Amino acid sequence: MAKSVFEMFLGLSFVLMLSMSLSPGATDEDRKVYIAYLGSLPERDYSPSSHHFSMLQAVIKQSSVANYLIRSYKRSFNGFAAKLTNEEANKLASMKEVVSIFPNKVYHLQTTRSWDFLGLKDSVKRNPTVESDVIIGVIDSGIWPESESFSDKGFGPAPKKWKGSCSGGKNFTCNNKLIGARFYNSEEPREESARDGDGHGTHTASTAAGNNVEDASFFGLAQGTARGGVPSARIAAYKVCKQNGCASADILAAFDDAIADGVDLITISVGSTTRSDFYQDSIAIGAFHAAEKGILTVQSAGNEGRLGKQGVTSVVPWILTVAASSIDRRFFSKVVLGNGKTLNGLSINSFDLKKTKFPLVYGKEIANLGCNEEITARVCETGCLNSTLVKEKIVLCDQFRGNNEARDAGAAGSILKTEIDDVSFVLPLAASALSTDNYESVKSYLNSTKRPVAEILRSETIEDSAAPVVAPFSSRGPNFMEPDIMKPDLSAPGVDILAAFSPIGSPSGNPADKRQVKYSILSGTSMSCPHAAAVAAYVKTFHPEWSPSAIQSALMTTAFPMDQSTNPDGELAYGSGHVNPVKATDPGLVYEVVKGDYIKFLCSIGYDSEKLRRISGDNSTCSKTSENILPRDLNYPSLTAQILPDKSFTVGFHRTVTNVGIASSTYKAKVSSNSKLEVKVDPEVLSFKALKEKKSFNVTVTGDALSLFSMVSASLEWSDGTHSVKSPIVIHSYKSFRLEGSTL
Ligand SMILES: *[C@@H]1O[C@H](CO)[C@@H](O)[C@H](O)[C@H]1NC(C)=O
Ligand SMILES: *[C@@H]1O[C@H](CO)[C@@H](O)[C@H](O)[C@H]1NC(C)=O
Ligand SMILES: *[C@@H]1O[C@H](CO)[C@@H](O)[C@H](O)[C@H]1NC(C)=O
Ligand SMILES: *[C@@H]1O[C@H](CO)[C@@H](O)[C@H](O)[C@H]1NC(C)=O
Ligand SMILES: *[C@@H]1O[C@H](CO)[C@@H](O)[C@H](O)[C@H]1NC(C)=O
Repeated sequence: MAKSVFEMFLGLSFVLMLSMSLSPGATDEDRKVYIAYLGSLPERDYSPSSHHFSMLQAVIKQSSVANYLIRSYKRSFNGFAAKLTNEEANKLASMKEVVSIFPNKVYHLQTTRSWDFLGLKDSVKRNPTVESDVIIGVIDSGIWPESESFSDKGFGPAPKKWKGSCSGGKNFTCNNKLIGARFYNSEEPREESARDGDGHGTHTASTAAGNNVEDASFFGLAQGTARGGVPSARIAAYKVCKQNGCASADILAAFDDAIADGVDLITISVGSTTRSDFYQDSIAIGAFHAAEKGILTVQSAGNEGRLGKQGVTSVVPWILTVAASSIDRRFFSKVVLGNGKTLNGLSINSFDLKKTKFPLVYGKEIANLGCNEEITARVCETGCLNSTLVKEKIVLCDQFRGNNEARDAGAAGSILKTEIDDVSFVLPLAASALSTDNYESVKSYLNSTKRPVAEILRSETIEDSAAPVVAPFSSRGPNFMEPDIMKPDLSAPGVDILAAFSPIGSPSGNPADKRQVKYSILSGTSMSCPHAAAVAAYVKTFHPEWSPSAIQSALMTTAFPMDQSTNPDGELAYGSGHVNPVKATDPGLVYEVVKGDYIKFLCSIGYDSEKLRRISGDNSTCSKTSENILPRDLNYPSLTAQILPDKSFTVGFHRTVTNVGIASSTYKAKVSSNSKLEVKVDPEVLSFKALKEKKSFNVTVTGDALSLFSMVSASLEWSDGTHSVKSPIVIHSYKSFRLEGSTL
């Protein structure tokens, strides 16, 4: 599993797919795990399991189908996972009760200071009693229940609404802080516990809701009080990720359980690296049913990086999608050469070389037999460094990922070349990653003397005044599936975050790195996701009755604007901006979306009435009039439209805001736009006389032709003098990937 963005840079980013054939029997070899999604649960007189069973019996020509049914989803929505042949899956797909069928797919897992940086100080106003009734569901790699971050000192019994259980397996005990745990095994190898062998799930859970733990650090680095955003909240852990990834059948099962267990919010730092339409995306399906039950799902945007790459894969409007940005603390590690020259590199280096200088060697000069010096040894490819020759030396590797081979071959340290200049990672040996210029100067020093030596110092931290800057790895928009819905929604801290860890997990991701730590430093949108989830929970403690969309809106419209000059990808990188916890509790106005709006949205993207009804569980239809509804008319807190390139354009948006601020208030529209867009708001003034009162307005955006793959933006702000309710306006000409007329 790609536990953090770190492994992406290591090139370890698990191409390993799950072994799909589960049973040794010959006839079972062609079987794979498929998920049959049947939509909402019918209201009454329905036995999901026996229905699933009879559906299977109808397609599988075997006397006993029991072995093939892996799981029934029946607590919060309807469906099942089963081992099927291709042919059986096709037959099932043609049944009228099936909304969609899709193969089990591998998803990937994609601090102390971070909360202060966000302005959510320890001393901030809180509602501890209400907060202790909030339950955060963490769908991840499990949890380390004995971590101090999850101790239940001072916690009363679980909230009354809790209907879950502690089913964490053998030797797994919950408490009044960690109130529930479950694990799932749709694929081999089975793991019989919710215990986190990796560290990722422990890290995300503690970032969201860990206790205040004083004097936490990674070997003295990033020392301080580790705490979650809502330290009084409860945690329920759902383990869906194992060594080889997170199976969609398990993710769906976790949603089915979490919703029925009674969580208030779901945080899921898991994503796919390939696109799928959302009726085949278990996170989108699970989150849809969660939203229906009043539960907001917060998901990481993904670690696919810069524009032009894959793009953000968390695409549906009922999920809050979170990009990752830096905080004002950065780690660097100095390299001191024998000639006295000192170079700053990046890494989180806890190793102390005790002021010893070690001989320097270049990977290419100590190649193992069978390894090409120029191709593999130069970059310290796995198995390519001669351990006799690298021993007690510092080795230069032309690629960052060479650090693993340097460690495994037994080097004293490693100097790595990197093109990433703003993220530091925990590495399995004393190492520092240098920019190309600095790296080249080490190489010329190496060549300039007979006995080149160097030393790598323990990491130091510096303050970074440029923060927050969206991390280079954070997936960019636009939204290639629903191009009129802006994604990511906002940004939160996800670079070099200290949080609780699993003592049996490897802090560097290298299995040979046996350092046992209680706290570790990770980077990724995986880390920013629980930050935003905690802010959503924090808002909920002030407004327990708010819908998921109201909370989502509050976070988005109050986000800090980010600096375009340090964030050249603009809204495509950070969406509405950087999450602002304290402001989010008092947004003034919210853009609410009710189920009926999502239903219209589904019609607008091509659902027919039959599929729609299976999902909605009611008599909804996609009528002729609803065919005229555009996806961008969903009452979303950001305004985005995809337009055709090379043509001037006029696009309209309809929006409705609900007053949640001051009963009698008047909001004026303010538009910030560069010369490229003309924005008209009608009406320009909204006067409210009561709370919960709704007012509608229209926005018309006009502009000259854009070339293909470009974006222009503006912003709309409603202000009553106290509240500022901001929405980005993004017009882009990126192509979308949704196939024209694709069958649902
Ligand atoms: C239970 O788990 C803890 C933490 O890993 C471990 O220290 C202990 O030995 C385990 N006990 C048993 C009986 O396996
Ligand atoms: C490693 O280097 C030593 C010393 O030069 C040499 O004897 C040995 O054969 C090399 N090992 C491999 C695997 O290339
Ligand atoms: C050192 O110099 C030689 C000759 O100029 C060159 O071939 C070699 O690539 C250089 N090595 C490094 C590490 O720059
Ligand atoms: C759907 O419509 C039928 C007939 O109009 C009605 O009897 C039924 O109660 C409706 N079901 C729901 C869930 O609204
Ligand atoms: C917005 O535009 C629609 C037509 O596109 C119109 O029916 C509606 O009255 C307008 N709303 C406002 C508040 O101007």
